[in-house]
Amino acid sequence: MGMRSYMTWNEVPAAPLDPILGVNQKFQADTSAEKVNVSIGAYRTDEGKPMVLSCVKKAEALLLEQSDLNKEYLPQRGDATYVQLCQKMLFGEKSKLLASGVVATAQTLSGTGALRLGAEFMKKFAKGKTVYISNPTWGTHNSIMTQAGVPFSHYRYWNAAGRDLDLAGMLEDIEAAPEGSVIMLHAAAHNPTGVDPTAEQWGEIMTVCKAKKHVCWFDSAYQGFATGDLDIDATAMRAFADEGLPLFVSQSFAKNFGLYGERVGTFSITCDTPEAVKAVMSQLDIIIRNLYSNPPKHGANIVKTVLSDPALYQEWRDELKAMSLRIQDMRTALYDELTSLGTPGSWTHITSQIGMFSFTGLSPEQCTQMVEKHHVYMLNNGRVSMAGVTSKNVKYIAKAIDDVVRNF
Ligand SMILES: Cc1ncc(COP(=O)(O)O)c(C=O)c1O
Repeated sequence: MGMRSYMTWNEVPAAPLDPILGVNQKFQADTSAEKVNVSIGAYRTDEGKPMVLSCVKKAEALLLEQSDLNKEYLPQRGDATYVQLCQKMLFGEKSKLLASGVVATAQTLSGTGALRLGAEFMKKFAKGKTVYISNPTWGTHNSIMTQAGVPFSHYRYWNAAGRDLDLAGMLEDIEAAPEGSVIMLHAAAHNPTGVDPTAEQWGEIMTVCKAKKHVCWFDSAYQGFATGDLDIDATAMRAFADEGLPLFVSQSFAKNFGLYGERVGTFSITCDTPEAVKAVMSQLDIIIRNLYSNPPKHGANIVKTVLSDPALYQEWRDELKAMSLRIQDMRTALYDELTSLGTPGSWTHITSQIGMFSFTGLSPEQCTQMVEKHHVYMLNNGRVSMAGVTSKNVKYIAKAIDDVVRNF
């Protein structure tokens, strides 16, 4: 018998912690009684607990009673009724595109799965095109493109001095991108900055994208979370759609339905003709077949049940509004605490920013001290999840910010 050499994987280096999930792991390991977790973009009640929406529990109860519900596979592209309801939620009841049947939509593994599916589609059918992503952004936007092998670059977005949008820089970079590039835009509640373009600014962005024949990729992970209203939060995307710009849309129900772990989402591509939709869908089917074959059913069944039942739909909209209001209340509370402490600097951005996050403007060193000295787990780029702030911990968080601003 000759020598056999076994693969032992001893050479495999340990991967660095994920920048967001890694902070969560460190939080779990911290034994301090005062520790606070504001690193993850997940809603918490004012008691700091995860929440299952009441409309979701009711939908699950209804599903259990359905005798014809089975565990058969879904098609690769997912549940047709669910997909139609999602399209309406994104594009609106009166959408011209939907009326003409020119939107191709597949059910996906939440927003991340939608982004990856879009990247895989680009690799096959938009070879060599670059995706332009805001700087800063949700970090996974960049790493998905890296992992999928899709070229990407950035456009300016954040004006650190004014803690607002660098519109001129953004327009200049989108204008300079080669014609027909793909521009990733946060549909509402920009992560991490909490700063969205105004209606007028969206108009300017649309004009440049149209002139350059860019594909606009709306990443919609927070519909309803920015203002508490599903339609208002879709205004920008619907305006681009009505204007006839080619769109990709990735949609997530993680935040607005609290279905984080159920992995419920969609990916859409607007086409020219219903025939093109058929062809695009057939290609999405092949990509999905070879990634994970078909999507899970339970979460999509919940969303389908709620969106198609008027009473549950209304209850969901009310719950969504209540979640976004609690976050807005916490913004005011944090601002008030910092103001009463006389913390140096201006903190108006905490209340003017929208959505789940506040981009505090703390330096990396100050952020490190928030974690190491005060056990307040936030991201090193200064992002705080306002959904993790409660009436009980807001004073403690403000005192920690006050200390690091004064001393580091
Ligand atoms: C901007 C953005 N896009 C997409 C996602 C996707 O999340 P999920 O895969 O849980 O739907 C997130 C989640 O934090 C996000 O912030």
